[in-house]
Amino acid sequence: MLLGVNIDHIATLRNARGGLEPNLIQAALICEKAGADGITVHLREDRRHTKDNDVFELKNILKTRLNLEMALTDEMQKIALDVLPECVCLVPEKREEVTTEGGLEVASRLEFVRDFVQPLVNAGIVVSLFIDPDSAQVEAASKTGAQFIELHTGRYSNAYGTAQEEIEMNNLKQAAALASKLGLKVNAGHGLTYENVHRMHEIPELVELNIGHNIIAHAVFDGLEKAVKDMKSLIV
Ligand code: PXP
Repeated sequence: MLLGVNIDHIATLRNARGGLEPNLIQAALICEKAGADGITVHLREDRRHTKDNDVFELKNILKTRLNLEMALTDEMQKIALDVLPECVCLVPEKREEVTTEGGLEVASRLEFVRDFVQPLVNAGIVVSLFIDPDSAQVEAASKTGAQFIELHTGRYSNAYGTAQEEIEMNNLKQAAALASKLGLKVNAGHGLTYENVHRMHEIPELVELNIGHNIIAHAVFDGLEKAVKDMKSLIV
């Protein structure tokens, strides 16, 4: 299984002070050096973390793949066609949400999604649809021209360790099997952690996991002790 690292939270931290630190490009290069197979950023309508110039810079500098998460808007389609990232992951977006809460609604607006996907695929971009593990959405996704789906693992992650875990796990397994049968390749992500990620091995169809928040959270604690020691050494 491949790992795409979502570095939006580095940009959130950077934007908290309006400067350049922590540097997003440096973060991406560290992730690549550590073995990440791709770098993911979500260019949100409100630009709350990743900004337009980050996306252009990343595309120029990455040695792996840039996966651009974006909503289905004319503005984002134009940016994607300018940047030409290797991959685009289409996500639903609500201005007030903290993170992408649910999967994309494809089944009830198949034509709209298909028309949105087509120019991206024609431009050579690999397109993925971020959907809930639901058979109607998977079937619809297979008719859009997108090559991949990314299964939303949020419900599995929330249910991990509870009586609901097995149900959510089965939903993911069934959706992945159906997608593969219909000719789609399958990624997954959202809410995955060092604790719950192991069960993704039970889904043989998975190509890549996209993980962000928990990796950055882990990195903070992995580096905090050294960071304090380094500063202390400059002061005492
Ligand atoms: N995949 C998609 C489509 C997402 O929107 C996100 C969150 O930005 C992720 C994966 C990563 O989720 P997390 O930050 O919870 O690992």
